[in-house]
Formats: sequence, C-alpha cells, structure tokens
Amino acid sequence: METLYVLGGKELHGDIDIVTAKNALLPILSCGLLTARVIVLHRVAMFTDVSYMIKILESLGCIVTLIGDDLVVDTVLADKYEVREEFTKKVRSSIFMLGPLLSRFRRAKVAYPGGCNIGNRPIDLHIKGLKSLNVKIEERHGYIYCDGSNMRSGDVHLDFPSVGATENIMMASVGLKGTTTIYNCAREPEIEDLQNFINACGGRVSGAGSSIISITGVENFHDVEYTAIPDRIVAGTYMIACAMCGGGIELKNCEKSHNLALIDKLKSCGLNIRSKKDRLYLSMKSKPKSISNIVTQPYPGFPTDLQSQILALQTISRGTSVIVENLYESRYKICNELIKMGANIRINDRMAIINGVPKLYGANVTATDLRGGAGLVLAGLTADGYTTIEDVYHIDRGYLSIEDDFCKLGAEIKRINK
Ligand code: UD1
Repeated sequence: METLYVLGGKELHGDIDIVTAKNALLPILSCGLLTARVIVLHRVAMFTDVSYMIKILESLGCIVTLIGDDLVVDTVLADKYEVREEFTKKVRSSIFMLGPLLSRFRRAKVAYPGGCNIGNRPIDLHIKGLKSLNVKIEERHGYIYCDGSNMRSGDVHLDFPSVGATENIMMASVGLKGTTTIYNCAREPEIEDLQNFINACGGRVSGAGSSIISITGVENFHDVEYTAIPDRIVAGTYMIACAMCGGGIELKNCEKSHNLALIDKLKSCGLNIRSKKDRLYLSMKSKPKSISNIVTQPYPGFPTDLQSQILALQTISRGTSVIVENLYESRYKICNELIKMGANIRINDRMAIINGVPKLYGANVTATDLRGGAGLVLAGLTADGYTTIEDVYHIDRGYLSIEDDFCKLGAEIKRINK
C-alpha cells in the first residue's frame, strides 16, 4: 500500500510537460488491434490503465515493446477474441475491445468492465449501438458474447453522447462495407484523436468533434506512427493547483482549446492565464474568489473529470459556490475526506454547496477514485501541516507521478511504501 505525504503551504513555481492523454491512448491502443498492423505510438505515458490495456493486447496475441517512451504494438499475430475478467475488473476501458474485436474477428467475448469507483456505469449504449450494426449479443455469466457474422453498416442513434459508446461503434464500423453514421455522438477531443488515428492507418472517418460521425468501411490498413493529444485533465489539474497554491507556472505541450470551459471558470476566480503556441502561463497573486455555476456536462461543457479538483479549489475560495454533477452520482465521495480537512460542504443529491473556509488542515484521508484522489492532493498542497493520502493507486491510473510533477513545481510531497 502506498501513501502520499503532502506538506501544504508552498507556492508553485516552474514548468512542467503535459503527458499524452490517458483517455486518448486507451481507445487508440485497442483500435490498433483491428488494423492487423504494426502501430508505433510516441510519447506514451505509462499510466497504470495504459499498462493494463497493454496486458489485454498481449493476452490476445499482440507483441508489445516499449522503447524509451515509444510503444511498438505488433498486432499481426493476434488470434484471440476473449478478454478475461482478470483484466476487465482492473480497467473499465476494456469495454473498448468489443468494437476492434468485432471489426477484426467478427466475434468478441468480453467480461463485464470494472474501473473507477464513481457510481453506476452501465454499458447499455454500447450494446444498443452494436445491435444497430446487426451484431447478435448475449449477456451470460458475467460475459458479453458478440456474434458479428452478419454485421453491416447502418445508422446508429445514441440516446446520450457517451464517449465510450461513440468510440466503440466507430471502431466496430471501420471495416464494414458501406457507410455507418452515428448521431448524437460525444464530441470530446479524444474522439477526434481516435478519428485521426484511424485515418492515419488508412481508415475513412469524418465528423468527429461534431455530433454526427460518418465511417466508410475500408478493407486494408497500413502500419502507422502516431502521437496522441496532450492530457487536458492532467493540464487542468495543474491549472487548478496554481489557482489554489498561488505562484506562477508554465505548462508545456498543452492544447488550450481543449480546456476552454475550465479556463473561463479559473479566470473568474482570479487566475491569470496567458498562452503562446502550445504553452500556458499561469499566475495567481491573491486568494481565489468562489466560482459561480459549475455544472458538469459532456464536452464542450465543464468536464466531470475536473469536478473533484475544482471542488477542492472551492473549499478555500472566498464566498459560497454551487456545483452540479450530472454524469456520475458517486463523485462526491471526496467530500467526506475534505470535511476531515476542515471544508464546509453540504451535498443535496447531485448538488454540492461549498462555503469557502480560510484554511484547510492536514489530515489522514483516503483516495476513493482517480480524480477525487487528485482533488485530495490539491487540498493537501494548500492545507496547514501534513496530509497523508492512502490508496494512491487510484491516482496512478491517470497521473504518471503526481508527486514528481508537484515536487518539480516546488511543492513538498513524498510517496511512502507502507
Ligand atoms: C469517458 C472517460 C471518463 C470520463 C467520461 C465522461 C475514457 C477512457 N474515460 O468515460 O474519464 O469521466 O468519459 O466524460 O475516455 N452511460 C450510460 N450507458 C452507457 C454508457 C454511458 O448510461 O452505455 C452514462 C454513464 O453512466 C455516464 C454518462 O453516460 O453517466 C457518460 O459516460 P461515458 O461518456 O460513456 O463515459 P466513459 O466513456 O465511460
């Protein structure tokens, strides 16, 4: 069991490189399988979720080699279509294998996915979408059995713009004769990145970034080298950290346009933000003001993956603020931990009402999910005295080494192996 020890009260100064996005790498890695080619991914950030996805690919017969931070995925010899429970309970994104397996083998057997502890995460939209492509699906004994022998392209209407369902259906369709059109799809930058990756391999996908995506089937793909987009949630976490701790930091390899909803909110709390090419320059000279109206929504709305971090910011802001979480009902688990640190928060169903306090105090807290864990690190960085954060493995799913990054910015934070 690993624990983070955080000593609060240091301003942040310095620069940091933003890694490639976990949520872009996961679908791209699974998509590689359907090409039956060799994929080289540059600047791969080895989040634990990424390493689990690699284990899944290896279990299917792919040969994966890490050279520096380049990942070479040889999918030519892959010959299995079953993803076992030992993998799926570790990483929810294992559900992304359905589309690529169907595309390549016309069949798939995938155990129900696990993942972050942030509430009920159904997969009905994935199933309904694949059924629209004439895939026969049975759910038995914890497994999803898909028979795609009569798959065909067609129209898919999503009842909600689910990121994962959009990606799965895109990947299932890339090899189908004719054109598949997905309506009401998610518009996240990671979906555009998946489109760019598929097209770089020889596929024909258009419309990603809008709510209608068209996929025209192709028969053959080619080897490809690709670099995923920067992680907007990691960048956003460090932006919020600067607003909380004060000081001045520079984020390198950042895509400002992916974080506009957050930037708008952070400007209103007093954070100074300038940008030049792929760099963001941030500085904070005063105590943050509370931010009004934070409502999580699908992209380009405010991202649920930054809700816990902005909630941590609100606990020490001047005034009262309200957050509405529309995507995941269990994302407020962090609040009990923040309350141990002196925060004043009331929860009413999907709404959190936060009265800013002058200071948080160091306490012994536990990360209960990935982004909530990051929120606790931010709270610890501003608190009086030491905060210890247990169950750090949640945080490692989406941050390469959160303590190294913050130490580089002048914070005092240490990982201890208990
Ligand atoms: C992706 C992100 C995750 C982020 C989330 C929302 C990856 C690897 N993960 O997750 O970090 O928090 O988008 O931005 O990209 N839903 C259904 N039925 C389904 C699928 C989803 O009801 O079949 C609901 C979910 O319960 C949730 C909402 O739709 O309330 C959004 O989920 P979705 O967009 O699918 O999120 P993920 O792809 O799982």
